[in-house]
Amino acid sequence: MKSTIELASFVSQYYGPQDFSHLYWNGNLQEYIDILMKNPKIARNSFQRIHDMIMSFGVTKYTEYKKEVTRYHFFDDPIAQGKDAIFGIDVHLMKFVNFFKSAAAGYGTEKRILLLHGPVGSAKSSIARLVKKGLEHYSKTDDGALYTFEWFDEVESDILGGSKIFPSPMHEDPLKLLPMEARVKLLEQVNKLGYQHKIRVKGDLDPASRYIYQQYLRKYNGDWAKVMKHIKVKRLVLSEKDRIGIGTFQPKDEKNQDSTELTGDINYRKIAQYGSDSDPRAFNFDGEFNVGNRGVVEFIEMLKLDVAFLYDLLGASQEQSIKPKKFAQTDIDEVILGHTNEPEFKKLQSNEFMEALRDRTVKIDIPYITRLDQEQKIYRKDFNSETLPVHIAPHTLEMASTWAILTRLEEPKKSDLTKLQKLKLYNGKTLPGYNEDNVKELRKEAIREGLEGISPRYIQDKISNSLVKNSHTGCLNPFMVFNELESGLKHHGLINSPDQLEHYKELLAITRQEYEDTVKNDVMKAISVDESAIQTLCSNFIDNVKAYTQREKIRNKYSNKLEEADERFMRSIEEKIDIPESRKDDFRREIMNYIGALAIEGKQFDYKTNERLHRALELKLFEDQKDTIKLTTIISNVVDKVTQEKIEVVKTRLIKNFHYCDICATDALNYVASIFAKGDAIKD
Ligand SMILES: Nc1ncnc2c1ncn2[C@@H]1O[C@H](COP(=O)(O)OP(=O)(O)OP(=O)(O)O)[C@@H](O)[C@H]1O
Ligand SMILES: [Mg+2]
Repeated sequence: MKSTIELASFVSQYYGPQDFSHLYWNGNLQEYIDILMKNPKIARNSFQRIHDMIMSFGVTKYTEYKKEVTRYHFFDDPIAQGKDAIFGIDVHLMKFVNFFKSAAAGYGTEKRILLLHGPVGSAKSSIARLVKKGLEHYSKTDDGALYTFEWFDEVESDILGGSKIFPSPMHEDPLKLLPMEARVKLLEQVNKLGYQHKIRVKGDLDPASRYIYQQYLRKYNGDWAKVMKHIKVKRLVLSEKDRIGIGTFQPKDEKNQDSTELTGDINYRKIAQYGSDSDPRAFNFDGEFNVGNRGVVEFIEMLKLDVAFLYDLLGASQEQSIKPKKFAQTDIDEVILGHTNEPEFKKLQSNEFMEALRDRTVKIDIPYITRLDQEQKIYRKDFNSETLPVHIAPHTLEMASTWAILTRLEEPKKSDLTKLQKLKLYNGKTLPGYNEDNVKELRKEAIREGLEGISPRYIQDKISNSLVKNSHTGCLNPFMVFNELESGLKHHGLINSPDQLEHYKELLAITRQEYEDTVKNDVMKAISVDESAIQTLCSNFIDNVKAYTQREKIRNKYSNKLEEADERFMRSIEEKIDIPESRKDDFRREIMNYIGALAIEGKQFDYKTNERLHRALELKLFEDQKDTIKLTTIISNVVDKVTQEKIEVVKTRLIKNFHYCDICATDALNYVASIFAKGDAIKD
């Protein structure tokens, strides 16, 4: 039997004519005003529209360092199923959204350039992409609808350059066709309708429409209503590809820059038709500023722009108008979104021109992520075992992220804190002597944190490389990625001194060590698994510590007799993490204080948040159980049947509970066994 697809009906499941008609609505000016009086939002300016677009996806609030932080779901990239989601820099994204909030209200930022500033690969372009995609999408929804117009005539008309239609070349709002005073009065009515911001439709028609308008006005002896019979209002769908409402400018080499790329150019073919190069109908309004009208224009590497153009830019933002060659100022309504790297920004800092720019710019820092769990989300998006033909061993992405973040952190001022510990504190773990306030202090003292170090792009590239190189093994593990990360450093363009190279390598060694500990821990956990056993051990320990610090007795669960706290038991745990006899009182008091502080906030103590205690408990449990399985025998070839069975059990647990696959579970067991065989103490 031949299999086939009946194309028309297949496609009709996914696309209906109503999708088309809806977006291609057209009508006359009166009908447009009727829509407007029901829904004033159709006449929002670009800042208001983008702000509402961002808000339309909703928010979540959470507290961090005792401050409320808003997460805008827009940055989860719901439109493209998370493809460009931005993680871990919510506080900065809030500033970004606030720019639009204030511009929407007309507080002045609508006259500023929005400049994203940050190190390479810090998601600046991704943020710009989100805004552009968001606008495209929003303009297709009922909520985000906007309109423009075209001129038309029954016959081919000289006024329209010999044709029957002439679209508004900069996709302007039809309200611009109203004489100024009438427009102002109409908007007064519109602004009583309850849209949260004031609707303002500013400025004049573009030169071509103004010319046509005047020609018709002359033809009809000033009868405006008759002129408007030549207007067809249309729904406007913004589209980067169609160059409607979304412009992008990327500077090429400095000698080749030409202002027509920004503000449009004379169409030499049409000059013959119109007989003059100052006829605005012979002008191509296809510069990026023209294209971006009603939406956004993005300036990639904005500060690489030739200084001459930067003045165009300043005018565009401050006056919200541009100057096309040979024509009068032309009003625009668009967001100017630039980005720049730090070196470029610094280079221009001494330049006097920069001052003018700085003054008209709202600069928003987009740093690298400094929270481990957030950084990992970047890589999980692209690299996960569900979509790849290769399994990704547990901790692979975590370790790559750990190293990336270590390169971004500043050395803590307190000498007893390592960078790795700092990383963990940032990631929400606790250490004795550190609470939220201290961690906030740590963040404060580090001024350049997140502005330097290894970029996510480097990590992404190296993970891809190692995937390609190791795909035949069926499983990608951290060692493979470590090797790739290390060998790439030699050619890394942004490492500019041998010291820095050395430093990054040292951090890699620290990360490898961290992995060793982590994988050891997994194996230990798989051996001693059983969360409930740890939980019981923990409660038991806490009960004893509490009795000890408060000089009380404790009831023995079995004999039901009151007894002294079990000193030997407590020490057996404390020794696992090197608490000396002389420090044990302090340690026990710290723990009780910590639990007490939590209780005041109404929170429950969870041993997992106390890394040292967690580890101590695991080690103790492991020690109690490890003799039942002779791990070191794995690497000798003679394994008796009983041991082999036990090993299989551990392996199965690694697979079931810790997301290992058969390959990496075997690797992990071998690796840990070899560490033990070398005679390393389990605790370190
Ligand atoms: N905070 C973040 N959240 C999610 N992804 C991120 C984040 N930071 C960087 N990335 C990822 O890193 C990669 C590089 O990002 P992007 O191209 O947006 O950076 P950029 O700041 O524009 O870099 P450049 O300065 O080199 O142009 C992208 O794949 C992006 O998804
Ligand atoms: Mg970029």
